Amino acid sequence: DCNHVISIYLPTHVLICLFVFLIFKPFSVLFLLQTHNTNSRTDLLSFLWKKKKMFVSGTNHHFISRGEIAQQFGISLDVKMMEVTGRVLSPPMLTLGSSRGAPGNLSITPSNCQWNLMGKKLVEGKALQCWGIVDFSARPSHNKQQALDGNMFINYIVRKCCDLGIQMNKTACFVHLSAMSVLSDPHQLYEELNKAKQAAVKKNQKLQLLFCPMSEQHPGYKTLKLICETQLGIQTQCFLSHLANKTQGQDQYMSNLALKINSKLGGINVQLQDKLPLDNGAPYMFIGADVNHPSPGNVESPSIAAVVASMNRGATKYVPRIRAQPHRCEVIKNLGEIVQELIGVFEKKAGVKPQRIIYFRDGVSDGQFEMVLNEELADMEKVIKVKGYSPTITVIVAKKRHHTRLFPKEHNERRCRRRTAMCSLARWWTPELLTL
Ligand SMILES: *[C@@H]1O[C@H](CO)[C@@H](O)[C@H](O)[C@H]1NC(C)=O
Ligand SMILES: *[C@@H]1O[C@H](CO)[C@@H](O)[C@H](O)[C@H]1NC(C)=O
Ligand SMILES: *[C@@H]1O[C@H](CO)[C@@H](O)[C@H](O)[C@H]1NC(C)=O
Repeated sequence: DCNHVISIYLPTHVLICLFVFLIFKPFSVLFLLQTHNTNSRTDLLSFLWKKKKMFVSGTNHHFISRGEIAQQFGISLDVKMMEVTGRVLSPPMLTLGSSRGAPGNLSITPSNCQWNLMGKKLVEGKALQCWGIVDFSARPSHNKQQALDGNMFINYIVRKCCDLGIQMNKTACFVHLSAMSVLSDPHQLYEELNKAKQAAVKKNQKLQLLFCPMSEQHPGYKTLKLICETQLGIQTQCFLSHLANKTQGQDQYMSNLALKINSKLGGINVQLQDKLPLDNGAPYMFIGADVNHPSPGNVESPSIAAVVASMNRGATKYVPRIRAQPHRCEVIKNLGEIVQELIGVFEKKAGVKPQRIIYFRDGVSDGQFEMVLNEELADMEKVIKVKGYSPTITVIVAKKRHHTRLFPKEHNERRCRRRTAMCSLARWWTPELLTL
């Protein structure tokens, strides 16, 4: 029931017991996934180690010294942790585009999780013929703000893009120097952005991308995206001027910007070297879905359901669908209709319908698995499985906030540094395979 919110308040003792239960909750599968954010994960790992030490050495008073709480509930704790077998997944092998004949490999340096695109080409670089720039950092309002060196930026990004295989026009279609204050005035902002669009129209072209350098992070960023994506239909690439302007580390910054530009233009940056497991040649489609709810205290705004689906072999291109739905409603209304639309787009692009559909659902709590099966999956099957079309549907619920914590058994500093890279990669997921 979507309009029904239940709050349960529990006494602290019960919460502690729940916490104990959650820590020791058995789990069956462990995936270690790689992220590139080494620092924060390293911090997380050392934090967890401290917690584990406290627990095992008995210095955690809640659990050990005040054993009477546990006793009152008839629980006794073994300080030895449960052992499970884990598996460290090595990073996937990635392929880039071919420069001088042979396709290049993209290798990630395991120690710092960085990659280098020097002398490499993207898998499919799109051409960027018509682009503009509205420089919101052009007139700094205080002396800590820096103006962008526009010419330097343009030279750099054009060269970087061309190196990577994105044919970028050297000449801008539209250049306008603006100020951060414009971001606070939606009407003026609309005018300036629309001028960029119209400049391209006058030249019988379509503005493919508008660069929007800014002096600092600003709430008007959201207004800008709203205007461009829902009213004007132009794509934007925002960035902070001082990052693009600085001399050190600029190459990596421009490379990353170029990757974003190519994705926005619909190109392909990298591909998996191997076929996906279970890829027997039949067309497949990945679907990812989540629902965003209004912030706490907000009692009327709708919840927003977002569904994306992969459109090509290798799953590098995605098409999104977004729907507003009843306030705090977790079940995705009309999932069937949304998926049917996405299958339609897939069919238009690929010429066939997908024979396998892998549905990844995020943001579902343990008590809601039935909802996913009984309502979302049922609705999807009802709508799409018609006229003899009957793809295999796999539903995977991805859970992040499950409170299961895993530690490497040996806390060996040197090995752990490598492990940190691996654990730090780790977002711990407990995937629940609902149906195959
Ligand atoms: C890329 O990797 C594949 C398989 O690992 C190898 O056969 C190929 O020679 C590599 N290509 C280059 C350019 O290094
Ligand atoms: C950016 O470039 C301009 C022109 O070269 C310069 O005046 C400004 O100080 C630069 N800012 C930084 C952070 O380098
Ligand atoms: C490059 O941009 C200029 C300025 O908008 C335009 O006149 C020209 O046709 C563009 N070149 C290509 C190849 O699109």
